[in-house]
Amino acid sequence: MADRPLTIAIDGPAAAGKGTLAKRVSQHYGLAYLDTGLLYRAVGRLAAESGVDLDDPEATGAIAARLDTADLTETGLRGREAGERASRVAVHPPVREALIAFQRSFASQPGGAVLDGRDIGTVICPDAEVKIFVTASPEVRARRRTDELNAKGRSVAYETILAEVRDRDARDAGRSAAPLRPAQDALLLDTSEMDIETAFRAACDLIDRATS
Ligand code: CDP
Repeated sequence: MADRPLTIAIDGPAAAGKGTLAKRVSQHYGLAYLDTGLLYRAVGRLAAESGVDLDDPEATGAIAARLDTADLTETGLRGREAGERASRVAVHPPVREALIAFQRSFASQPGGAVLDGRDIGTVICPDAEVKIFVTASPEVRARRRTDELNAKGRSVAYETILAEVRDRDARDAGRSAAPLRPAQDALLLDTSEMDIETAFRAACDLIDRATS
């Protein structure tokens, strides 16, 4: 257990297992947890529902500025379409700027916090005590996501998911506003050869070493 409030930033590309890992890490260290992807997913969904062009920076930025925590509990935010919309609205600086204050205030709560996303270590919490960049090859990530979807009864071809993963990587890493990249002081965790239990233990080792 941590003996002082910690901020842990967990970044990485789509389907790298950040969410599962971040949630388990937060429970293990008794920290609050924020999945920041949900913010972008909710903005994309609200924009689509109100007929706003997802490629319009100002209009989507206005939606982000009005985002309410209740919007994050909507069902359907975890799906593939929501992920695609999220990555489209996430390229716009007005959207990103509107979401900064909420994320920073969550991160600085007295009990400490774990946040996962794309730019937590680079932009949102550059002073986080621990920054982990979780990755895995596109093929491994696509395989995991395909298996996950098939297990839920949503039959989808591996090739389709691999193409989506590559598209999302290209958009997230290629954008000029807060592109996906490891912070200079991030600890890299490649989970290509790890199951979730092994990845969780490896993350705890990194955190314990960084904070001891
Ligand atoms: O779970 P998955 O990795 O598929 O996606 P997510 O973490 O929910 O993020 C969905 C999309 O939101 C990403 O592809 C990014 O474009 C965007 N995002 C971002 O730009 N910055 C963040 N801190 C979190 C998500």
